[in-house]
Amino acid sequence: ATTSDLVIHQMYKYLNDEEFGQSKEMQSFYQLFKRYIETKAVKSEVTWEEIKSPTDKEVVEYDAIKDGQVDPHAVLSKLAVLKLNGGLGTSMGCVGPKSIIEVRDGNTFLDLSVKQIEYLNSKYNSNVPLLLMNSFNTNKDTQQIIKKYSNSNCKIRSFNQSKFPRVYKDSLLPVASSLNDQLDCWYPPGHGDLFEALYESGELDSLLDSGIEVLFVSNGDNLGATVDLSILQYMLSSNSEYIMELTDKTRADVKGGTLITKNGNVQLLEVAQVPKEHIDDFKNIRKFKYFNTNNLWINLKAMKKLITEHKLNMEIIPNVKSVIRGGHEISVLQLETAVGAAIRFFNNAHGVVVPRSRFLPVKTCSDLLLVKSNLFNLQNGCSLELTPERFFGGNPLIKLGSHFKKLKDFQSRIPHSPKIIELDHLTISGNVYLGKKVELKGTVIIVCSEGERIDIPNGSILENVVVTGSLQI
Ligand code: UTP
Repeated sequence: ATTSDLVIHQMYKYLNDEEFGQSKEMQSFYQLFKRYIETKAVKSEVTWEEIKSPTDKEVVEYDAIKDGQVDPHAVLSKLAVLKLNGGLGTSMGCVGPKSIIEVRDGNTFLDLSVKQIEYLNSKYNSNVPLLLMNSFNTNKDTQQIIKKYSNSNCKIRSFNQSKFPRVYKDSLLPVASSLNDQLDCWYPPGHGDLFEALYESGELDSLLDSGIEVLFVSNGDNLGATVDLSILQYMLSSNSEYIMELTDKTRADVKGGTLITKNGNVQLLEVAQVPKEHIDDFKNIRKFKYFNTNNLWINLKAMKKLITEHKLNMEIIPNVKSVIRGGHEISVLQLETAVGAAIRFFNNAHGVVVPRSRFLPVKTCSDLLLVKSNLFNLQNGCSLELTPERFFGGNPLIKLGSHFKKLKDFQSRIPHSPKIIELDHLTISGNVYLGKKVELKGTVIIVCSEGERIDIPNGSILENVVVTGSLQI
């Protein structure tokens, strides 16, 4: 037997000895683990010469599809919306789900997502349901928030994604020794888990039974991902089984996955799959102009077929984390998949290049400052639109230092959003606090020396300035 066989056998024995193996979830984990070990032995990088930019038929411009005739009520009767809500937003230091952070006027991401659908349903007299894919990390807090929508015209259905065991990086054996072992022994296996979780929860069948054909999926933190009737109409009339919304890459998002054609199939190409010597080619924004927004439109019948035929074998993304055991940090591995990588299994899959406004993610507190600011207006109480006063276009570049990395610190240092309509570039580093009604214009740089503190007083207007040291202005 090869080393791979031994490792797989060791996992099989462990899961069964510990009586993990009985659960459906553990069997799925075992399949993922097995595939990981088997494919690890094979080179997972792509062969660069086989990669081509997608053709005009495979990637269409939003402008080319947006003027089609649409019967909103008819197309909406075939739609369900799904928000990915299983992640913890660890990069913002969140302890709970990111979707329960307040963004505007007392509304969390989750509230705004619900209100967007409520608005849509009342405007078109439709019945579009909202599905939330939660995880064992996010379910409890989420249920708490959605309670108040029990009488809403937006029916919310939630289901949980899988809970897989983390494995020690060295021994490749599970950290957990029983199903009830503590939380840090487990992880939600990435948003690619959507397919299996939707199917296993029974939600996929109930959507199909109620005549729903298309699922619109997006990240819980992307407030730009509203239901777009033109894309939905295009999806239905072009018989496309999968549409990925792409947007123009800027120098800031060179790392995002891009669509390519390989052997006549559209595929997602992530930076991790690119051979080292071609990384610069990959980042070249002229060669690969677009990147994946993770706003995805998926045909449910096709999805069910692929799931039941076990064909959705997306690339496995190994993610190394650490757990504390006996006072020591120990490296553990979690195996994940991404929903966007499934594009290659669907027929007639397309990319649609959408305006940047449909991609408004909040990955850091700098992004949060932007969406909370007066740069955006809240339309119909639910969707963010760039204020028309920002006539020179483009979002300002905001760089907040490590003192603003954690949400709690950000909230105490910048408790009131500054006005930033005329801001081009903001850098804040060090122990800085902003007062109320501060206005920032042009390029503003605030750098506080180590051990000092800078307070920007209420009502200050800072325009093209550099504030340094421990200055109390
Ligand atoms: P990402 O992992 O790309 O972003 O997930 P994130 O949540 O911002 O990640 P970190 O933790 O700060 O690095 C994109 C979307 O997919 C969901 C997340 O909740 C987010 O909305 N997601 C991610 C899941 O639903 N399940 C997962 O297992 C992972």
